Amino acid sequence: MEIGCGWGLTGIYCAKKFNAIVTGVDIDSEVFPYLRLHADINKVHIATLHQKFNNLKETDLQEIDFVIGADICFWDKMVYPLKRFIHRALRASVQEVIIADPGRPTFEKIGDYFVKKRKGEILDRIVRRPRKFQGRLLTIKFSVCA
Ligand SMILES: C[S@@+](CC[C@H](N)C(=O)[O-])C[C@H]1O[C@@H](n2cnc3c(N)ncnc32)[C@H](O)[C@@H]1O
Repeated sequence: MEIGCGWGLTGIYCAKKFNAIVTGVDIDSEVFPYLRLHADINKVHIATLHQKFNNLKETDLQEIDFVIGADICFWDKMVYPLKRFIHRALRASVQEVIIADPGRPTFEKIGDYFVKKRKGEILDRIVRRPRKFQGRLLTIKFSVCA
């Protein structure tokens, strides 16, 4: 499941590269035509769910193996709902949650919290093509915190 999927490129990559069965969740339904267009170009199918991730319940997450989210924690008001959502995902036995961000203070707040509370890890990553870009990944595994 990709939360705050936007045009869905991360989930599309997972579907194409790892044969993952992906659901893209977004609060804004207007992103989905673009997601579908990109999915078609890449010859993969992505299911879509027009929903706030805040509203997803533990029962909605029980069949999900991985939750990913890229660039979804850019305002202070997003910190608390995302924290609560990650806790619900781990309670539902999601194997791993990975949140990617350029490294904003809001992301660092969530990162610090899960590193302390749930043995999360923060990883730095650099891509060099098509141009150099540096980002951070927060990863929290179910097995560590169960
Ligand atoms: C900056 S965009 C990132 C999109 C995509 N993940 C990417 O990396 O290109 C943030 C996305 O999160 C969505 N979003 C924001 N708050 C959300 C929420 N509470 N639940 C679901 N989606 C949300 C927005 O509609 C938007 O599509």
